[in-house]
Amino acid sequence: MTARCGTLYGIGVGPGDPDLVTLKALKVLQKVTHIFASCSTKNEYSLALEIVKRHLTNGQVERLPFPMTKKADVLKVAWEKNARRVLEVLQEGRDAAFVTLGDPLTYSTFGYLMQTVKRFAPEVPIVTIPGVTSYQAAAALSQLPLTEGEESLYVVSGALGAERLKEALTQTDNIVLLKVYRYFPEIYQTLEKLGLLDCTTCINRVGLEGEMVVHNLRELKGQHLPYLSLFIIKKPRRTGSPGCLFAVGEKASGGLSEL
Ligand SMILES: C[S@@+](CC[C@H](N)C(=O)[O-])C[C@H]1O[C@@H](n2cnc3c(N)ncnc32)[C@H](O)[C@@H]1O
Repeated sequence: MTARCGTLYGIGVGPGDPDLVTLKALKVLQKVTHIFASCSTKNEYSLALEIVKRHLTNGQVERLPFPMTKKADVLKVAWEKNARRVLEVLQEGRDAAFVTLGDPLTYSTFGYLMQTVKRFAPEVPIVTIPGVTSYQAAAALSQLPLTEGEESLYVVSGALGAERLKEALTQTDNIVLLKVYRYFPEIYQTLEKLGLLDCTTCINRVGLEGEMVVHNLRELKGQHLPYLSLFIIKKPRRTGSPGCLFAVGEKASGGLSEL
């Protein structure tokens, strides 16, 4: 190893609109000489790079392939291989940035990469620069408060179906459901059964071409959602104040008590 090891910057570039890239992220991106971005093993596309490309001036860009799989052993091999590649650059004494969609520590490849780099080389300096999350931008676009007063908010993944959602609904006032696209039919059925269709807003591709807000989930029944889709669910408040911003029938409270 050289005397000085470079710093690894994990940079969140926000969910799509390049104007939501922070000043701090820009400063680092214009300073580092090596920029990493994740891509799938099938092609070289990186949305995070697309978002920041207009801001890049001189950094060399390198894609790191991460397989889209849930197989822990396959993932571990990829994280380790990519962490070693990042370390090669850092150990030449060069700073490097890893750009990610939204926030780098919210359902992001950077979390795994950071932990693997730390495991291999605990002495390496790592700086994480937070980014605007997809659901913050979605709430702003749809004009839905995520929390008010003493309410709570759960951020839940729909990647395994509706089970996590059902569990969360028993405990919180508001839910952000990410990764809804694959199990949308099952999630739709669950929301319908619980009388929560009117309390759910779907936001697709916030800040990107094709951006869409759908307040009436029934319009989406039977459709395929894009990968970049999320739901904001606001449970009806029993006090009568507008927790759910839309008309909520009797069924809503009856449905929830079924959980
Ligand atoms: C792997 S997670 C990445 C989350 C990201 N790190 C963040 O901070 O929001 C991918 C999921 O985030 C949501 N997502 C990310 N970008 C989005 C966008 N521009 N519009 C809508 N949903 C988005 C979708 O639910 C998508 O399936």
